[in-house]
Amino acid sequence: MEQHYNYKVVKQFAIATVVWGVIGMLVGVIIAAQLAWPALNLDIPWLTYGRLRPLHTNAVIFAFGICGLFATSYYVVQRTCQVRLFSDKLAAFTFWGWQAVILSAVVTLPMGFTRGKEYAELEWPIAILIALVWVSYAVVFFGTLIKRKVKHIYVANWFFAAYIIAVTILHVVNGMSMPASLFKSYSVYAGVQDAMIQWWYGHNAVGFILTAGYLGMVYYFIPKQAERPVYSYRLSIVHFWALIFTYMWAGPHHLHYTALPDWTQSVGMVFSLVLLAPSWGGMINGMMTLSGAWHKLRTDPILKFMIVSLSFYGIATFEGPMMSIKTINSLSHYTDWTVAHVHGGALGWVGFITMGSIYYIIPRLAGQQKMHSTKLIDLHFWVATIGVVLYIAAMWIAGVMQGLMWRAVNPDGTLTFTFAESVKATYPYYVVRVAGGLLYLSGMCVMAYNTWMTLRNTKTAVAPIPAVNAAHA
Ligand code: HEM
Ligand code: HEM
Repeated sequence: MEQHYNYKVVKQFAIATVVWGVIGMLVGVIIAAQLAWPALNLDIPWLTYGRLRPLHTNAVIFAFGICGLFATSYYVVQRTCQVRLFSDKLAAFTFWGWQAVILSAVVTLPMGFTRGKEYAELEWPIAILIALVWVSYAVVFFGTLIKRKVKHIYVANWFFAAYIIAVTILHVVNGMSMPASLFKSYSVYAGVQDAMIQWWYGHNAVGFILTAGYLGMVYYFIPKQAERPVYSYRLSIVHFWALIFTYMWAGPHHLHYTALPDWTQSVGMVFSLVLLAPSWGGMINGMMTLSGAWHKLRTDPILKFMIVSLSFYGIATFEGPMMSIKTINSLSHYTDWTVAHVHGGALGWVGFITMGSIYYIIPRLAGQQKMHSTKLIDLHFWVATIGVVLYIAAMWIAGVMQGLMWRAVNPDGTLTFTFAESVKATYPYYVVRVAGGLLYLSGMCVMAYNTWMTLRNTKTAVAPIPAVNAAHA
């Protein structure tokens, strides 16, 4: 009997990525607007900034970001191993289980239930559900790798595997809590240990979700879209091991000038500086894959998304090591510079590579040659690019300005500016950010329309698994 890939779960996750992308970014625009015009919380507790902000971060990272990683990792592992997913039932459980996690976040965060740990806000019953879904994900992914028909494990799978394993460890260790009631728990760690564990988690969430997972996309989708082999297979292996080793030590750069022992902060700083090398190794490898195919950038908007995403990755991973130098961090910390750095990475890198990869997958899931409209992909690309640039340029300027205003002193030693004066000076930049966010969000809405139109015309989208091993999937 002819065997087929499990495209159903890939399609479900791909659609979820687009839908949650629109919702998560909409909440981002709302909180950005609230920072410019605070009255927009309408005096309703559920809509206050403090509750919507974690809703935004959870929606964009765990809903948009991780659904994108589920979709692409399930697609890539099947294609490169030339087998169907290990278990259809377990894969379906990961989809519905993960949607249940997201919906619980959508309900509990605006109600104010939180563990108070950034990016690990969800209360213990939801955290347990996350663990169950994640272990099932690992079983499906590694089970598929084990039953592969191709001897070699393609490098994209290495990155996905590292992300799946690391998130399991991070989530379990940082999630250790003592429940006090159904919706309240307390971390088992105390004081500075709690802070250290939290930022070991937080930074590795950046390293393994927002970086390693997306490098998995880079290594499969860029060569595919460019129709060129990966530039250097050796470099991919070297920077893989260097990256996962180094990331684990960099967490303390989030805790400079705190009660954390000084030497720990220095270790964090040094490892962050070292991290520049493996990060740029990945960026260069992705970019150079286009050798001999640069002309395709002129006509292929999907490739534009992918290559521009690598440029933002390069910017964020240059800026990050600089910001981890203690003296620079003394200026940047607490300011909107951090927010600029985050969104250079989030919108430019994570967002763009996800969009490029999902644009690659969608027509294949619909049994079509290409998306409904290539012009609309191009429109999305330009609107989103202008949006990111407006967002991060505004926040860079605002951030440096805030840092300089806060440290300015008069000859007699008194502060030159009050805090309120720095808030007032920031106002125009917050308005520019709202404009940038609106552009980025509208691009995402264009993508949703294009996806809908492509999937509406689904032809029989079954992809038979090749009977004979082929070198490339
Ligand atoms: C339309 C697009 C977006 C807008 C307008 C937006 C806006 C915002 C705003 C206003 C904040 C709060 C900043 C503060 O507290 O001062 C924020 C935080 C954050 N956003 Fe977004 N965002 C967008 C998209 C995204 C995406 C796609 C991601 C991730 C993939 C993301 C990840 C984050 C993270 C991690 C934070 C927390 C940053 C920190 O604690 O320093 N955002 N966003
Ligand atoms: C070589 C790589 C990188 C290094 C060394 C690095 C370093 C840093 C530093 C020093 C901070 C500021 C800490 C503070 O003052 O509180 C920071 C914040 C952050 N970075 Fe990076 N970064 C890197 C890459 C990235 C990438 C690719 C992303 C992807 C989106 C990212 C996402 C974030 C987030 C979300 C935060 C805010 C955390 C928070 O306070 O909530 N970083 N990073």
